[in-house]
Amino acid sequence: MRILFTGGSGKAGKHVLAYLAAKGHRILNFDRVPLGLDGVHDLIGDITDAGQVYSAMRTHAGYDEMDNAAGAQLFDAVVHFAAVPRHLMTPDTETYRVNVLGTYNVLEAALKMGIRKVIIASSETTYGVCFSDGVVDPKVLPLEEDYDIDPMDSYGMSKKVNEVTARGFQRRFGADVYALRIGNVIEPHEYATLFPPLATDPGLRRRITFSYIDARDLGQIVDLCLQKDGLGFQVFNAVNDTNAVPQPNSELLPQFFPKVPLSRSVGAHEGLLSNRKIREVLGFKEEHDWRKYVP
Ligand SMILES: NC(=O)c1ccc[n+]([C@@H]2O[C@H](COP(=O)([O-])OP(=O)(O)OC[C@H]3O[C@@H](n4cnc5c(N)ncnc54)[C@H](O)[C@@H]3O)[C@@H](O)[C@H]2O)c1
Repeated sequence: MRILFTGGSGKAGKHVLAYLAAKGHRILNFDRVPLGLDGVHDLIGDITDAGQVYSAMRTHAGYDEMDNAAGAQLFDAVVHFAAVPRHLMTPDTETYRVNVLGTYNVLEAALKMGIRKVIIASSETTYGVCFSDGVVDPKVLPLEEDYDIDPMDSYGMSKKVNEVTARGFQRRFGADVYALRIGNVIEPHEYATLFPPLATDPGLRRRITFSYIDARDLGQIVDLCLQKDGLGFQVFNAVNDTNAVPQPNSELLPQFFPKVPLSRSVGAHEGLLSNRKIREVLGFKEEHDWRKYVP
């Protein structure tokens, strides 16, 4: 597929983009800063500028495409990752402005221009635990996609609003719009430093309900979303199969979530931020269990 990818120069985007390129997709990276990956052209632009976003939807994906004299073609799909990616990076107002306006622009431009598949980066922070003021409990565990999400921070609120906008545009245009509630993204080099301390201090990951997503496995999830047509509006948790800590749920639940009810039984190490839906609906099979990389 020919894909317009926003935010491909970032932490998650560069791995997902490399995964998609290796699968044979043709990608144009739309970002404020270049990625510089062979075979992927960088188009420098700003998602908060609607004119630039509209313009990018129909353009050459690289100089080589100009040789065909076929004109600037509409992309087959948009993968939208560009954002302020967490709380307390910019003032709350700026986080909300960039994320909500930028995502609105991408969704409107893609769907009004006729693109039939848009995948947007939402976040596990929408569940309202991660960036809450105070140590709060989820209403129920495991966290699944039908949860009544209620973040109190501006980053989480921006991602919740973006899901609402995505759903509205999907209703209006009937295309496929999938929102990925991405867990904490782990790059290959991060296992060595981030994971060993969890053996003695699992509480470090309580706020993210012990979840993680390997950046390369996130590439697989996006690719599966690109391949799977006809689902309309969907929300998918995008996380690995198990918790990021070695302790079993039989220890974690009484220690960290003693008052939280379970909606169903969970496996010994099954992720409390559940990826059941991507396994069942998309056929996701994780390749990068953290245990492969942490002695
Ligand atoms: N990293 C995580 O753990 C995590 C978890 C959940 C969700 N997410 C979401 O995944 C996506 C990618 O996150 P990341 O960690 O790679 O973030 P990142 O900051 O590393 O990458 C974001 C990219 O977006 C670009 N960008 C920002 N504002 C832009 C603008 N106005 N116009 C054009 N480009 C702009 C940046 O230059 C950057 O390359 C984000 O939507 C983020 O909210 C990330």
